[in-house]
This record gives sequence, C-alpha cells and structure tokens, in this order.
Amino acid sequence: MTTSDQDKAGSFSPQMIADVAEDARGALPSAPAGAPDVAALAQMANEFFRALPGQTGQFSGAQSAVTLPSMAPQFGATPASMTAAPYTDRLPSEANVQQMPSSFQPELSASPVSANPAPYSGAGFPQHEGQSAPAEYGASPFSLPMPSFDLPFPSFEAALPAIPRMDALPTEEDVNAALNSVSSLYFLENAGALSRPAAAKPSPPTAAGISPALLPDLQLSRKQFDVGAVRRDFPILQERVNGKPLIWLDNAATTQKPRSVIDRISYFYEHENSNIHRAAHELAARATDAYEGARQKVARFLNAPSVNEVIFVRGATEAINLVAKSWGKRHIGKDDEIVISWIEHHANIVPWQMLAAETGARLRVAPVDDDGQILLDEFEKLLNPRTRLVSVTQVSNALGTITPTRQIVQMAHRYGAKVLVDGAQSVSHMSTDVQVLDCDFFVFSGHKVFGPTGIGVLYGKPDALADSPPWQGGGNMIVDVTFEKTIYHAPPARFEAGTGNIADAVGLGAAIDYVEQLGMENIARHEHDLLIYATKWLQTIPGLRLIGTAKEKASVMSFVLDGYKTEEVGAALNKEGIAVRSGHHCAQPALRRFGVETSVRPSLALYNTYGDVDALIAVLRKLKNIGA
Ligand code: ALA
Repeated sequence: MTTSDQDKAGSFSPQMIADVAEDARGALPSAPAGAPDVAALAQMANEFFRALPGQTGQFSGAQSAVTLPSMAPQFGATPASMTAAPYTDRLPSEANVQQMPSSFQPELSASPVSANPAPYSGAGFPQHEGQSAPAEYGASPFSLPMPSFDLPFPSFEAALPAIPRMDALPTEEDVNAALNSVSSLYFLENAGALSRPAAAKPSPPTAAGISPALLPDLQLSRKQFDVGAVRRDFPILQERVNGKPLIWLDNAATTQKPRSVIDRISYFYEHENSNIHRAAHELAARATDAYEGARQKVARFLNAPSVNEVIFVRGATEAINLVAKSWGKRHIGKDDEIVISWIEHHANIVPWQMLAAETGARLRVAPVDDDGQILLDEFEKLLNPRTRLVSVTQVSNALGTITPTRQIVQMAHRYGAKVLVDGAQSVSHMSTDVQVLDCDFFVFSGHKVFGPTGIGVLYGKPDALADSPPWQGGGNMIVDVTFEKTIYHAPPARFEAGTGNIADAVGLGAAIDYVEQLGMENIARHEHDLLIYATKWLQTIPGLRLIGTAKEKASVMSFVLDGYKTEEVGAALNKEGIAVRSGHHCAQPALRRFGVETSVRPSLALYNTYGDVDALIAVLRKLKNIGA
C-alpha cells in the first residue's frame, strides 16, 4: 500500500467505506472508471480498522498486515464446486484403477445398502415462553459495514416453534418432551442427561476412549464457554458471502483459524524464520525452539509420553501413507490381513489397498449397522492371527459416528495386531489421550483443528516407530552418510527428511494452545448441545433423510433432501452465505452403504451457534415451501 493510499484510508469513515463498497458491488462485474477495485478497497478498509485503538496483535512488534481476501468472488460468482459435473461423469480410466491381487476379497458380510432408510419422523417441538433471538455478535474490526441480513422469512422466530437455546436453559421435562416428540436417534436419548446437575463421581473412559470429563453438564458448560467471545477470535467469521454473513458449517472439510494462529505464523516469518537444526546462528536457534516447542505442544495435546513419539507430516493422509509404506511394508506380507471399517475416509482405504496390491495381503472391512455404527461382533470375527493391522477412524467424516475406538484397540491387541487410529475428524471435537486409547499409531491434520493446512501429525508408540524403517531419505534424518552406508537418526527425525513445514508446525502449536485454553471439555459440551438441537430441527424437515444416526456422534449432519440434488441444496445454502460440503466427502463406500452417492454435509465446530443452525434450517424449510 502506498503512503497516499494510507492517507486516504486513514480519512475514511466506516460509513464512507460502506458506501463505496455498495457502489462497487452495484457496478460489478466492471467497476466504474476511477473507482478503487474491490481488493484495494478491502485493503484500505483493513488499514483503516487496524489504525483504530486496541487493534494490536498478540506479539508486540509483530504487527503483521491483516490481509482481507479479495471480495470479488462474493459477487455473483458461482464457486466451481457448485457447477462441477457430478463425479460419476468422471469415471476413472482403466489404467488408473487399482488392480487388486486375486487374494483381495473385502469382507462385506452385511448388506451394503440399508434396506430401511430412516423415515421422516417429523412432529412438533415443545413450546417455550419468552424465547429470545440468538445473541448477535459484536462487529469485527475486519468487517465492512454491509446492509442488514434479510432472513428468508419475515420473522424467523415466528416461523420456527420455540425449543431450548442458549438463553433459555431447558428443564429436564422440556428435554424429555422434545425427545419423545421428535427423536428416533439413539444419541438424542442421551440428551436427557443434559439438564441434570453435574455428576461429581468419576467414571471410566467410554468405549471411544473419551475422557469422562466430557460427559455433559450443560449448565456448567454454558457458563464457561462464551461462543460470542470465541467468534471474535476468528476474523473470517466476519466475512460476507453473497451479501450475507458467512456461516461456516464446512468444518469437517477444514476449520477456520483464530487470530492467534494467524499472528503466530506471521510472527515466525517476521522474527524467527530460518531452517532448523543445521545452522549455528540466532535465527536457527529461534526457529528450532519454535518448531520443537510445537512438538511439545502436540505431545501434551495427545498425552503422548514423549516428544520423540510425535512426527510432523503434511496431514493425516501423509501420516497413514507413512505407516503403510514404512511399518506396513516391513510387517505385512502375503496372506496377512489388514482390517478397516466401512466408514473410513478414502485416506484410510487407498493406502492399504495399495499395500495389499503390492504384498498380496488381504484387506477386510468391518460392517456397520443402519445407524452407521461399527458392528463390533462382526469386527471381532474378522480378527485372527493373520491380522497385522487394524486401522479405524475415531469419528467418521461422512456420518459423524464416534467409533468405539478403545474397544477396537483392545480387541485387536488380543490378536497381536497393531492399531492405527485416524483422528482427523475427532481432535477438534473431543480430548485425545493416546495412552487411554492405547493405539499404536494416531494421525491427525492441523487444519482440522484450527491450525494451518500442510501440517499434520503421526504419533507412534516407541516400539512401533523403532520397528519402522525410514520412508523418505535425505537431509535432516541422518546421523552420518558415506557412499557405503548411511546411519539414520532415531525417531522422530528419522521420518522427517528434508526441510519440513516449520512455520505451520509452529502455527499448529498456537492452534493447540487456543483449544486448550478454551478447554476441550467445554468445546465438546457446546458442540454436543448444538448437534442435538440441529438434529432435532433437521428431523422436522419433510423429506429430509439423515445419513448417519449413531448413538455417539460428533459434528457431522449428513443428509439428503427429497426433490433436490445435493449440489442444489449446497448452492441454495451458499446463496445465503452458508458453507456446507455436498458430494461424496472422500468416503464413497460409507455413503454407498446407505444407498446414496452424495450427501449434504453441514458440520459443526466450536464457533457455531444456535443462530447458525436456525439459518440452515430456514433455508431448508424454504426449499420445502414451509414456514413462510
Ligand atoms: N476430509 C475432508 C472432508 O471430509 C476433506 O471433507
């Protein structure tokens, strides 16, 4: 930005900026001659608001420029994802199809398609007096003033029957009435516990290995968790899309980043940037401290006994591929077996298929019931002395099912198999304890837990890592190299060849600090309440079928809507500023188990509100011509 631009921005009032923004919008696609383009306008507004008192960053002397993304895509552009041909039009060529060895016979012992899709069970909700609208959140310094948001209905409150919300705590009677009236979902039955006073007595970890501290005490959580304050930590939540406030319900695809993470990455590049480990100078020391500090944070976050069990990778996908190509290649051979579940992400299917194709091993698939829950009896039947590895997700990205991971680990260990847990969809929703889980490997992606993309983690038990050869060779992972032989470092460096994603590892450390400061228990409680609320409302939409109705769920509400393609629902929501994923979610077998190729998938995170859910429901009701 030039000095003269700064002068201009400094003399703008918010109203002037709003007026210019309005003019610019009206003039699109081509701005009038002489008018600033939208990106420049956004930048000027940014400079202006940064000049306001109290807008200092977390790190003194690290006032990085806040870059507003170009606003151009907001105005009338249809995202590519909305217009892309359905994936069925892009069938793979024969050359690209993974050829499985003849020994490959996935175990598909249950019917692959639900014979009984859950019927619509809509009924009324209990009525509550004195219900007020969801809280409005304070304007962010990064938002451009915009015209007010027009809800699809004159009065959203009038359009929806009242049910308990943040500002009107439900009594036990209310909750039971709601449950009796609308729910056939098992996990909603647990909601009866929400209005009970805090249970003081400790209980053992659940089947999924979730800390008992997560068991809900709604009243306590509502006092501790201020979602309005949380939202103010996420600059992008003040963004507008199609003229509407952004409602981010695509958290299973990626999460938004708090200011502290954005600032931490900027600070790294402004004050610490260097390669690590190699150079004996001040910045190398700073960068190394920051990177290794992040490793310590990850170890604490996972309750890993040692930092040496934490390996930085690009993400969960790379972590699984690392295990397949390193530990897997060494330990899995012809006629050995790998067990996965039917609700895995492609990242937890394809690497094992590739390994099976290479080695002659068999891939076996544990079935799920019509709610999307792994059938543990069937799972156990797949285990035998040839089972070398079980690899399961902790939360299904397509269905939201929380799997009984701890029990699965125990069962697999009885047969001498190692267990990999895919935590990509669980780490942002519940506390993780690899020692309670007792898994051999645990993987997750930083961007799913409010950290940057391109950084993720492989946790491995010391014996499993010691028994894993390097999977990539190069610098950083060696003790000594001669032309005759190379001596490798011990883990974790053994698996971190080349220059890693140093800055984003540091950013991930900041994300972990962020969620830990809020408390994973508080986050889990908030999301649990919201998921129950949203599920009840979704069940009132005629012709809406939920895909995935497990007793224990997190975040994800996959559905299909009669009369609409999933991409049409996604487009209608996008028009109202609501971001969801529609498609196969990189989990085609999981969706096909329920007889669908695609679904609409809203997914919750810690910054979502009852108002977000209301807006989602309003669009769906409008699509079904009800409630207006
Ligand atoms: N795994 C991501 C999802 O579920 C991309 O959307």
